Amino acid sequence: MRILVVGGGGREHAIVHSLSRSGGVHTIFAAPGNAGIREFASIVPVRADDIENLVRFARTEQIDLTVVGPEQPLVLGIVDRFEQEGLAIMGPSAAAARLEGSKAFSKAFMQRYGIPTARHRTFGAGDYDEAAAHVRACGAPIVVKASGLAAGKGAVVCATVEEAIETLSFMLREQAFGAAGEEVVIEEYMTGEEASVFALSDGQEYVLLAPAQDHKRIGEGDVGPNTGGMGAYAPVPIVTDALLRVVRDRVVEPTLHGMAVEGHPYRGVLYCGLMITEEGPKVVEYNCRFGDPEAQVVLPLLADDALDLFEATARGALSGSALSMRGGAAACVVLASGGYPGYYEKGFPIKGLEQAAAHRDVMVFHAGTATDGQEDSGRSGIVTSGGRVLGVTGLGGDLREALDRAYEAVGRISFQHMQFRRDIGKKGLRPS
Ligand code: AMP
Ligand code: GLY
Repeated sequence: MRILVVGGGGREHAIVHSLSRSGGVHTIFAAPGNAGIREFASIVPVRADDIENLVRFARTEQIDLTVVGPEQPLVLGIVDRFEQEGLAIMGPSAAAARLEGSKAFSKAFMQRYGIPTARHRTFGAGDYDEAAAHVRACGAPIVVKASGLAAGKGAVVCATVEEAIETLSFMLREQAFGAAGEEVVIEEYMTGEEASVFALSDGQEYVLLAPAQDHKRIGEGDVGPNTGGMGAYAPVPIVTDALLRVVRDRVVEPTLHGMAVEGHPYRGVLYCGLMITEEGPKVVEYNCRFGDPEAQVVLPLLADDALDLFEATARGALSGSALSMRGGAAACVVLASGGYPGYYEKGFPIKGLEQAAAHRDVMVFHAGTATDGQEDSGRSGIVTSGGRVLGVTGLGGDLREALDRAYEAVGRISFQHMQFRRDIGKKGLRPS
């Protein structure tokens, strides 16, 4: 088969890696890919949100299946365009991707179907005064969110009423988030541990993948600013079988049912970001794709052939609602540039990649990497080119072993100003 993977981060490296292990002979392309993905796929120099050129590429190259990594092209309607052209693609339509692309939509949707989530109200561009009055009436802590896509920066947990009002002003009056902040969702603050549950759905049937936990803050002990995710592990001990049944019955199934009833059957990866509160699991957010770095732990734990699963998802041929996961655990440690998530420098040579990857049951996924442009000299090297640079995944019989393997391999890698968290997976090791 000829397969195109859209995207160029650690998540897409993990997707390409999982496809490369599939039975049969396949040709994989990645647009735009990255320096690590090159090992398994031909690089296509087209941006992930350049939908028309992706359609053209898929037609010319007779691509049999396209798998989309990031949310942006999905929300922009890449699936609708590919399907118009008769091209098979795995992901939700633009209408279904609103579960991630519009928090105003997803919150109202959850309300319609009684799916547990934080209480909320939505305000539009002209409603600043009313929104501020609502914040004063509710008090703090309170959460203010830009409704649209904001690259993970659109949710602000406000400790005080003043901070919430400032955030509202920032979003609604100063339009700091552009169109994404034209509508804001003001939400009750929830407490509990977070976990993510992933379902692959073909519009009717679905399978659940291993539940995972991300580490969003930059600092150990969950302090400092939010990032795209500094590490992940799966499965998550707090998501017991009993809890997973609750999530399935109260979140996953009503979500898929509601989308189908409303005429937008959900096909693709449904990412349910959950807060495990004292009242039970509640949805923090939906995403319409795999998480990054969650994909780097969930995909290596797949029990089934990834290509078979993705194809069945795209073609409406999934069967059963079993959990698709092999035993054991996976842990991923993200190596980031010094300064991230703020300003950081790029272009530092990365040492020890081969040594790290040679470790048993270790995968080194590239995110913000590039080649140093010395290919012709025969001495080309890999340099840093982004905030999150690498994700080092270890697999093991249990979480302890997976973490040990990941951190041992991390010890082999170095670049100037490298930073990473040493407490990935720590919550998962606590005695329950
Ligand atoms: P979101 O972009 O909606 O996933 O939010 C990003 C992060 O903000 C989440 O992972 C939570 O850590 C936090 N957050 C979002 N909404 C809430 C809420 N209602 N209560 C507490 N924390 C929240
Ligand atoms: N790691 C969080 C996300 O992918 O949204």
